[in-house]
Amino acid sequence: MKPRLRWIVGAPLAVLLLAQLVPVRRENPPVVHDAEAPPEVKAILRRACYDCHSNETVWGPHTSVAPISWLAAHDVSEGREELNFSRWGQERPGRVGRKLRHVLADGEMPPWIYVVGHPSARLSAADQAALSAWADTLAAQRGGEERGRRGR
Ligand code: HEC
Repeated sequence: MKPRLRWIVGAPLAVLLLAQLVPVRRENPPVVHDAEAPPEVKAILRRACYDCHSNETVWGPHTSVAPISWLAAHDVSEGREELNFSRWGQERPGRVGRKLRHVLADGEMPPWIYVVGHPSARLSAADQAALSAWADTLAAQRGGEERGRRGR
């Protein structure tokens, strides 16, 4: 019984220790052009979105421990690819606005697992309303319709 117990506890522990050896990239590239938004909107974005959608990620201590580090690095790299508030102007405002409206309507962002560790990132009804209004403003900008117009 005893040696078996040692395995039951020891094997996962060994795997967890070995997991720490896998290198994880936790980098913040330079900010190219910070997002332009009204101050109250910007505050919400910084609080709830910037960790994954900007080059100003705060890599907290937990992000150096596998497997959390893997999840964090993955989310940041995918998040920056989808929408990077440090590379403002790279995508048409209309497109950004539509993407934002989509995730806000579904309550997809910020991801729930992130909110568990960052309760301050939870969006209040007022936060959601402010972001939605901003998304509508962006979506209505002429840049967003360019593609459709050209296609006609
Ligand atoms: C924990 C990291 C994380 C946080 C925090 C986060 N996101 Fe995301 N976001 C992602 C990842 C990863 C993706 C790409 C995969 C996906 O769509 O689920 C994404 C995708 C998106 C997309 C593109 C979705 C699409 O279908 O086009 C938008 C827009 C977005 N996020 C907005 C936000 C906003 C706004 C906030 C803050 C209120 C936020 N995100 C907070 C990780 C995050």
